Amino acid sequence: MFRLAHLSDVHLSPLPWGGIGDYMGKRMIGLLSWHLRRRKVHKTHILAKIVADMKAAQADHVAVTGDLVNIALPAEFAHGQRWLDELGAAQTVSFVPGNHDAYVDVAWQDGLAGWQDYMTGDLQLVPATQNCFPYVRQRRNIALIGVSTAVPAALHRASGTLGAEQLAALKKLLEILRERGFCRIVMIHHPPLPGQCVTRKALTDAGDLKSVLETEGAELVLHGHNHMHMRETLQTRHGKSHIIGIPSASAAPGEHKPAAAWYLYTVRRQEKRWQIEVEVRNYDGSSDTIMPETPFKLDCG
Ligand SMILES: [Fe+2]
Ligand SMILES: [Fe+2]
Repeated sequence: MFRLAHLSDVHLSPLPWGGIGDYMGKRMIGLLSWHLRRRKVHKTHILAKIVADMKAAQADHVAVTGDLVNIALPAEFAHGQRWLDELGAAQTVSFVPGNHDAYVDVAWQDGLAGWQDYMTGDLQLVPATQNCFPYVRQRRNIALIGVSTAVPAALHRASGTLGAEQLAALKKLLEILRERGFCRIVMIHHPPLPGQCVTRKALTDAGDLKSVLETEGAELVLHGHNHMHMRETLQTRHGKSHIIGIPSASAAPGEHKPAAAWYLYTVRRQEKRWQIEVEVRNYDGSSDTIMPETPFKLDCG
């Protein structure tokens, strides 16, 4: 039995101030968007409730699928590193970046490299094609596969891209890990299938990723980005692939998206099949507590 907690779209607040030169171009739009709208949505005290509830469950591992920060300011990367360090040891927390973590073009060494301990694989099966991606972490008979869709997008776009090389590496990984009998859990920020997101926010190569999943299979794909509860099942050549998206971990209730939530996955191998139980835990504004939903099961056969 393996228990995996999933959080996404942390959108850490408050937004720190940068230097005047940090606000050229797209970051200025992001700054205005934060102060006019997004700061009313993403609340530190709600995130703290979600994290406390998640920690109390004592899962074996935590997956965080991107948008840790907002406009990729230098001080936000430092804040993100402190937050990850408080969340748990790097061996027990896996991170993949989202579009807000690459809001503008920041050199790897000046930004995401600070979080690299949470994005480093321990099972080297294929060469990384894009910094450390894709990476694989083996936990017993579970393979956690992290991919990056985080690329700077044009103004008013929030799209993501895997790229041909990362897709080819992912395809090979899924094949090898399936042949070795692992339960394969893919962590990705953007919804992975075509049509799951409006074009300006979508994964540009979702069609190619869908083909990879259909050809090689993957027991579970965890994503964020839409800040909504999303559940899809993709029939693949190797059984069902369950694709699940979750709300932002800091979202206040009463906005146009669901309130903050986190999910707990319990993975078992039973009768030569992977059985996955899912517990959804939502922030409830009226009681200021985390409330569970009735758990549901996923059959990967
Ligand atoms: Fe987000
Ligand atoms: Fe996003």
